[in-house]
Amino acid sequence: MSESFFGDPEYYARCAKAYDAMIGSKVYNKVFWGTDPRQYSIFAAQAIASGKGPLLEVAVGTAQATATLHVASARTTTLVDMSGPMLKLAGESIATAAGGTLPDRITLECRDMLAPPGDRRYETILGLGLLHLVPDVTATVRELGRQLEDHGKLFLASLVRGSARSNAYLALLKAHGDIARIRSGTELFDEARASGLGSVTLARRGAMAYVEISR
Ligand SMILES: C[S@@+](CC[C@H](N)C(=O)[O-])C[C@H]1O[C@@H](n2cnc3c(N)ncnc32)[C@H](O)[C@@H]1O
Repeated sequence: MSESFFGDPEYYARCAKAYDAMIGSKVYNKVFWGTDPRQYSIFAAQAIASGKGPLLEVAVGTAQATATLHVASARTTTLVDMSGPMLKLAGESIATAAGGTLPDRITLECRDMLAPPGDRRYETILGLGLLHLVPDVTATVRELGRQLEDHGKLFLASLVRGSARSNAYLALLKAHGDIARIRSGTELFDEARASGLGSVTLARRGAMAYVEISR
C-alpha cells in the first residue's frame, strides 16, 4: 500500500487546536453525533486494559480522549500521526498530564500508520475516529493486522450512519471531501470481517461505531 493521508492534511495542519476543542466538546458530539466524548475514552480505556504488551495508537491526533489514559497506563506505547501539528499537541497534552515531561515508555512518531519502520509488532492497536476517513476498510485492517502480534487485538472507531441529523452532517463532510465513505454499522462490520484477520464485534452509540477484532 502506498503512503497516503486519510482526510484533509491542510485542515489538521491549520486547525489542530480548533479540532482538539471540537472533539472534546460535549455539545458538538451530542448535537452532531449523539455521542459523548467520555465514550471515546471508555473505548480507549478498554483497549489499554486489554493487555500488558506494546500498544500502538494510530491516527492519535491531539490525543484528546487518550492523553491521561496513556499517562496512567504502564504499557510501552507508540503514538503515530502523519500530521506534525496534531502530534505536537498530543505530546504537549501527555506531558502536561504527566506533570511536565513525556514518560520514557511513550514514543511519538510522525509517519504513515500503514508504513511502519521495520517489522515491529504490537499486542494492541487502537484508532479512534478513524475508519470513516478510510476508503478501503478491509485493506486498512489487513495492513494494521500485519503490525499485530499473534493473539493481538485491534480497537477501531468510526462514524457511521445514525440519526437524520448525523446523516445530513456526514453527507456534508463527504461532499466536502473530509471523509472517504458513509457506511452503516453493518457495512463497516462486513468490511472489517472481510479482512479475515479474526473475530469481529461491533457496538454502536449514536453515530459512532466501535469495532474490536481479535486475532
Ligand atoms: C479525525 S482525526 C482523529 C484523531 C484522534 N484519533 C481523535 O479521535 O481525536 C484523524 C487523524 O488521522 C491522522 N492521519 C490521517 N492519515 C494518516 C495516516 N496515513 N497515518 C497516520 N495518521 C494519519 C490525521 O493527521 C488526524 O490527526
